[in-house]
Amino acid sequence: MAVSLDTRYLNGFLSDYELQGLQPQVTAAHNLLHSGSGMGNDYLGWLTLPTDYDKEEFARIQQAAQRIAQDTDVFIAIGIGGSYLGARAVIEFLKSPLYNNLKKDTPDIYFAGNSISSAALAELLQLCEGRRVSINVISKSGTTTEPAIAFRVFRDYLEKTVGKDEARRRIYVTTDKEKGTLKSFADREGYETFVVPDDVGGRFSVLTAVGLLPIAVAGCDIEALMKGAAEAQTALCNPDVMQNDCYRYAALRNILLRKGRSVELMVSYEPRYALMSEWWKQLYGESEGKDGKGLFPASVIFSTDLHSLGQFVQDGSNILTETVVLIDESPVNVVIEEDAENIDGLNFLAGSTMAQINQKAFEGTVLAHTDGGTPNMVLHVPTVSEHELGYLIYFFEKACAISGYLLGVNPFNQPGVEAYKKNMFALLGKPGYEDQKAVLEQRLGR
Ligand code: PA5
Repeated sequence: MAVSLDTRYLNGFLSDYELQGLQPQVTAAHNLLHSGSGMGNDYLGWLTLPTDYDKEEFARIQQAAQRIAQDTDVFIAIGIGGSYLGARAVIEFLKSPLYNNLKKDTPDIYFAGNSISSAALAELLQLCEGRRVSINVISKSGTTTEPAIAFRVFRDYLEKTVGKDEARRRIYVTTDKEKGTLKSFADREGYETFVVPDDVGGRFSVLTAVGLLPIAVAGCDIEALMKGAAEAQTALCNPDVMQNDCYRYAALRNILLRKGRSVELMVSYEPRYALMSEWWKQLYGESEGKDGKGLFPASVIFSTDLHSLGQFVQDGSNILTETVVLIDESPVNVVIEEDAENIDGLNFLAGSTMAQINQKAFEGTVLAHTDGGTPNMVLHVPTVSEHELGYLIYFFEKACAISGYLLGVNPFNQPGVEAYKKNMFALLGKPGYEDQKAVLEQRLGR
């Protein structure tokens, strides 16, 4: 199995009978999900996606990635939320957070349209100067403000620097198969398009063209990624909560929430995992945080954050559960050498690898934190590979759906995301929002 759950550090926080007691609800959640009769059931495409995806489009993604590798120095992926986090997380995990600085035969990849910062956009434009640029604008709705603004700016940049015809060849659009402004625009201009399936929501879309094109451009093996997810699709179907680690994880976090553990802290000892935690935060935050319910998803990188948040985790309010994602085998290793003078006193580590020291940091920390009153779960990922990451992605997606149903929420909508947008549009004077504008201006004291 590519991913396994170790629950030994929950001893004293909950017992097996509490987990077994949740079996009827887990079975009900499993049945709702697999019969397609639960809330949000028109967004279940991700459930069978690893085996049931558009093979013709998949081949087009691979071809486009090859073409981009040959004709592009800088690839700009424009998108926000579910239309960017997954791709960035996979690239940073499989390649490196320093991917752009590595020696490689694939383009640099930057992500735009995920904020409204003019500084961020201006810096990216500067990085493009004198280099061959291609862009992939990704938006399921085709109307999201942040990527729409970035697309306008980069499209204009391309058209001015290489001309309209060459720009057309360098613009790739990932959006709905027929709806939305972006789709109409792409059709009119003749851009190559890829589809976000109707039944796959943004935060569940990393294994569609949304994630796959940028991931393939980075030189990752997207076939292996899909195969890993397909293995998880087959392996994680047993409704028995004691036999299925994915369901056990969902059930345990639900029990811990009921015991007042309202924050789940995703922990990794590898900086390359930081963006995976961001992806996970969106997946769980948007899926569960509604109707006044849900665990707040937070994340840290240890040992880095042991020197900032470690004090709170050890000794602060008892609101946390830690979920540690442990990469069992480091892809590279640095060995500590013997030093004749030993002025730094580190010779007791001579001959050890950094991975061994990191493992001891984990062991020391997990014991200290459980002693301090924080329950810990550990997810073991054997190593850094496409196959295992595909498995892990599917594991988290399925656990999230089961978890949402256990909580009694619709895990596939995000009504709360609209509130800020309506206010922002009204304040910006978007046509149709005139009434709200006056009310909001008054509240802002103008
Ligand atoms: O998970 C979601 O649905 C959201 O985070 C969306 O991905 C995000 O808001 C971007 O939407 P769109 O792809 O329509 O631009």
